[in-house]
Amino acid sequence: MDKIRIGIIGGGLRSNILRPCVGREDLELVAMAEPHPRENAWYAPLVGHGLEITPDYRRVLDRSDIDVVMVMSPDYLHEEQARAALASGKHVYLEKPMATTIEACDRVLEEAASSGKELMVGFNMRYMTMFETMKRLIDEGAVGEVKAIWVRHFVGKGDQAYFHSWHGTRANATSLLLQKGTHDLDMIHWLAGQYTKKVVAFGGLDYFGGDMPNDLTCTTCDQKDHCPEFSASQRVQCVFRKEIDVEDNQVVLLELDGGVKASYMQCHFTPDYHRNFVVIGTTGQIENSELEGTVRLTPRKGLPTTIAVNVEEGHWQADQRILEEFWATVREESQTPIDPWAGRMSVAAGVKAAESMREGGMVKMIPPRQAYQTAPA
Ligand SMILES: NC(=O)c1ccc[n+]([C@@H]2O[C@H](COP(=O)([O-])OP(=O)(O)OC[C@H]3O[C@@H](n4cnc5c(N)ncnc54)[C@H](O)[C@@H]3O)[C@@H](O)[C@H]2O)c1
Repeated sequence: MDKIRIGIIGGGLRSNILRPCVGREDLELVAMAEPHPRENAWYAPLVGHGLEITPDYRRVLDRSDIDVVMVMSPDYLHEEQARAALASGKHVYLEKPMATTIEACDRVLEEAASSGKELMVGFNMRYMTMFETMKRLIDEGAVGEVKAIWVRHFVGKGDQAYFHSWHGTRANATSLLLQKGTHDLDMIHWLAGQYTKKVVAFGGLDYFGGDMPNDLTCTTCDQKDHCPEFSASQRVQCVFRKEIDVEDNQVVLLELDGGVKASYMQCHFTPDYHRNFVVIGTTGQIENSELEGTVRLTPRKGLPTTIAVNVEEGHWQADQRILEEFWATVREESQTPIDPWAGRMSVAAGVKAAESMREGGMVKMIPPRQAYQTAPA
């Protein structure tokens, strides 16, 4: 294949990662579905290079000159659009989370299997240098056999990314344990080499949400001069509006299928932004610090080693690297390097944790693997 011809569904923030595709000889952005075209949009850099913009995603799928479809729409649309794209004979890059329910994930996997097309879930964190370093060291046996994982995700920009926008309702996202947590839950699975078997969780909506009207925006609000959450960004829905019903403060305990015990905390009103993973094995532990740009390996017997990691090689570089892997998969007609089952299992852990949290902390089992399971995590 000389050139991969790309269709896009959803021209929001995420479509921005496709900027470096513009002008490349081996890639062509052909059509984009965006029902809300606007000036100063995130997709603006993609426009003007022959890109057709249509409000209807089916128009993108109907084009026979498109090889791959990038599903970058809000989560509640992922199932319908990914399945339709696979059924139309396109390879699919599907943003995380795979879908908003476990059953929906299973239907996406079934469609991928019957279409014979590649499905790659956007787990870009696996391509961040910091987490790649941890994974490599764990796989080399640097901590012995992994037994425990402890994760805190302090989402210091939680207001901007999750409460000023569509992400704040269960109808759109189910829970931030999926919307945000799908990455972290996948990292727990990936680092441990095991999937979640059972979960229990507690959480609440402890800061955001409230009684403000659902249609209130920061730009029109009469309290904008003194509101601590005023936003001047592209996302301006009031963070204290009535409809917000996802939790902003949550803790999850997980038992994985190989016996690893894990704990995960996600809080959306912390001053700092920090994803901190500690992986404990039989002979030592490994911990990252995004704030310091380090991975620290501490043997149980011996002195710690601190590895400096270039934190500049973060989100953007990981986005570009995962895209290159997807283009290579399509070009070489090989299997995607990320097993789509991992997408289903991180959603399953998040969905069941949300259920547990909303039922007062009941223990929840993850539904078992199905026949279409492919490779291990
Ligand atoms: N992997 C990552 O690190 C990462 C980062 C950000 C977002 N995401 C994922 O990307 C997806 C999009 O997130 P975002 O931040 O770009 O959201 P966004 O709200 O900025 O963009 C979504 C876009 O989809 C459009 N849209 C709505 N209905 C549509 C439809 N029927 N057909 C086509 N487009 C439609 C919206 O108008 C909007 O422009 C989400 O699922 C999110 O989880 C992943």
